Amino acid sequence: MKFDTPATTNPIDQLKIVGKPVDRIDGPLKTTGTASYAYERHDVAANPAYGHILGSAIAKGRIASIDTREAIAAPGVLAVVTAQNAGALMKGDFNTAKLLAGPEVQHYHQAVALVVAETFEQARAAAGLIKVDYTRADGAYDLEKAKSSATKPKDMDGDAPDSKVGDFASAFAAAPVQIDATYHTPDVSHAMMEPHASIAAWKGDELSLWTSNQMIDWGRGDVAKTLGIPKDKVHLSSPYIGGGFGGKLFVRSDAILAALGARAAKRPVKVALQRALVANNTTHRPATIQRVRIGASRDGKITAIAHENWSGDLPGGGPDSSVQQTRMLYAAPNRMTATRLAVLDLPESNAMRAPGEATGHMALEVAMDEMAEKLGMDPVQFRILNDSQVVPDDNGKTDRPFSQRQLVECLRQGADTFGWTGRNAKPAQRREGDWLIGMGVASAYRGAPTQKSGARVRLDGSGMVTVETDMTDIGTGSYTIIAQTAAEMMGVPLDKVVVKLGDTAYPVSAGSGGQWGAASSTAGVYAACTKLREAVATKLGFSTADVTFADGKVSSAGRSVALGEAAGPGGLVAEDTMEFGDLSEKYQHSTFGAHFVEVAVDMHTCEVRLRRMLAVCAAGRILNPKSARSQVIGAMTMGAGAALMEELAVDNRFGFFVNHDLAGYEVPVHADIPHQDVVFLDETDPTVSPMKAKGVGELGICGVAAAVANAIYNATGVRVREYPITLDKLI
Ligand code: MOS
Repeated sequence: MKFDTPATTNPIDQLKIVGKPVDRIDGPLKTTGTASYAYERHDVAANPAYGHILGSAIAKGRIASIDTREAIAAPGVLAVVTAQNAGALMKGDFNTAKLLAGPEVQHYHQAVALVVAETFEQARAAAGLIKVDYTRADGAYDLEKAKSSATKPKDMDGDAPDSKVGDFASAFAAAPVQIDATYHTPDVSHAMMEPHASIAAWKGDELSLWTSNQMIDWGRGDVAKTLGIPKDKVHLSSPYIGGGFGGKLFVRSDAILAALGARAAKRPVKVALQRALVANNTTHRPATIQRVRIGASRDGKITAIAHENWSGDLPGGGPDSSVQQTRMLYAAPNRMTATRLAVLDLPESNAMRAPGEATGHMALEVAMDEMAEKLGMDPVQFRILNDSQVVPDDNGKTDRPFSQRQLVECLRQGADTFGWTGRNAKPAQRREGDWLIGMGVASAYRGAPTQKSGARVRLDGSGMVTVETDMTDIGTGSYTIIAQTAAEMMGVPLDKVVVKLGDTAYPVSAGSGGQWGAASSTAGVYAACTKLREAVATKLGFSTADVTFADGKVSSAGRSVALGEAAGPGGLVAEDTMEFGDLSEKYQHSTFGAHFVEVAVDMHTCEVRLRRMLAVCAAGRILNPKSARSQVIGAMTMGAGAALMEELAVDNRFGFFVNHDLAGYEVPVHADIPHQDVVFLDETDPTVSPMKAKGVGELGICGVAAAVANAIYNATGVRVREYPITLDKLI
């Protein structure tokens, strides 16, 4: 099915099941421990051996020699895989560095060997017996130092790295009120609960990988390319994923080394990345330096805005696209954005939840707060005054409309709900005992892209509907919203729908990334169900024009047949892929929100406690308010981490992230998070898909850290422009 004209009324609009806050259908499986994650798939791979990865001890250089003799002779060891015996390995399309080092080493903890043994302990002990002689080379690890050598990248996530409208320099120079501030965000880690893990098994020349991956078809392609085998010989299965956040968009060393280990040991092999390897062996969100300049008239109209960003990556890598929201949020006739990329020899940079915008808001939305204060304006009013219903900077053009844009409504409703009038505009005025209290606000922007997505739907003789798609559920609720979609389309209750996900045996979907998963994958299910409805009607001789599917029956012109009976003993199957035409070029598809935060800061220790958080979101039709709310409160929690504690500390001498485990890498725990409220504004967007829905999981993080920073300023009068805002920076 091709989606190229705005949707009219369709069966989803009945909203009997879609739009309801139904519980996650995978919830009981997960809370009772019966959902099998990748490392636990004993059902499919009998008698597996265990792999243990040895990570490089240097960040850059060469392996002069590697001696594995002692390891091979150690008890229980079945095989040791290194670049010397692994055969030729290509670099996949989605990785910047190779997943097995040798002889060149490209980053710290890049895998140099896999030891396969009968037990995990034997594999780990033997890995310690491998002797590697490295020839260390000098690397660049410090973004601040590398900044001056940064260059304009070819591409920024498919967009132009730089943009320009009007004449920023003259307009900024002429502006009566100006802000020019530079902000720093650190390297951060996805820190998902489940580390990357895979079980690999070969049957002849066919490889099965039970793994933890957000994008099944990308993964299949990259495994095939890396190993030099045909794509159709690779089978990937990833039905449950214990968090991804972008860190599992791509296959990593666990998958490739499990495959190589299984080939060498002639046994299924399971590999979980040791927790201490996750931060340096896999991808992370890169540090940024961001300069924001805003010029405005005295009445608060922005006349000039500029946002420049610097980040680093390994040679061949990409930039953090943190200037993106600055092209979208506020009107201003003169503007420019610029993206610069430095070569750094740290572990590779890549997407992490809301890549670009998550970091970009941390600068822009604090600069907006600083500017509002300089103007003597309320920061909510300042944002509202500078709203734009067309894209302010569409890579130089300025007139394409947003399909929906309720930023002003989000800000207004948020201010009302939060009690914003209780905020004292002057900082450091409100005190409760030893605590200084402050409130902060930030806008939230994130794109709402769609990706082609396929599904297969089967109706059997008992009236059960089974949906199969390689879409993944990374804890987001995909199982549930897909079941809701199929139930609504076929007129059956939820318990008549079975959803099967995350397997290369199923039609290729959009996968989970870029906040496109919910809108795209349900649209693919919509397309397949539309075909199935037609097949049922045709089989019964019903006119497809006036057929209805409700209460487990299909009806037309006074005749009604139970669905199972209509399908017959052989059942009926339909498969289709939703493809998206150019509506996203005619209209900018975006999601908007506003975050409000109240903090308390201890006057003596400068300890920061979050007291209240509110997000108001406008993100198209909300397919399931419960799972959407969970996405947003999870994102707000991640935003709180970004504001207050998360930071991969870089060792600038040796080029690695020092705090590479969950003891040293701090993420928020329950005690750090206060009451969180989420409000969704009514919105249906017929230009996005027949579902009229957008994503929300990444919108939820955008702006949170800035709202926290602004609240801390309001509480204390101390403006910190370097994240995380730890107490030492407030003293
Ligand atoms: Mo998202 S960072 O594209 O998984």
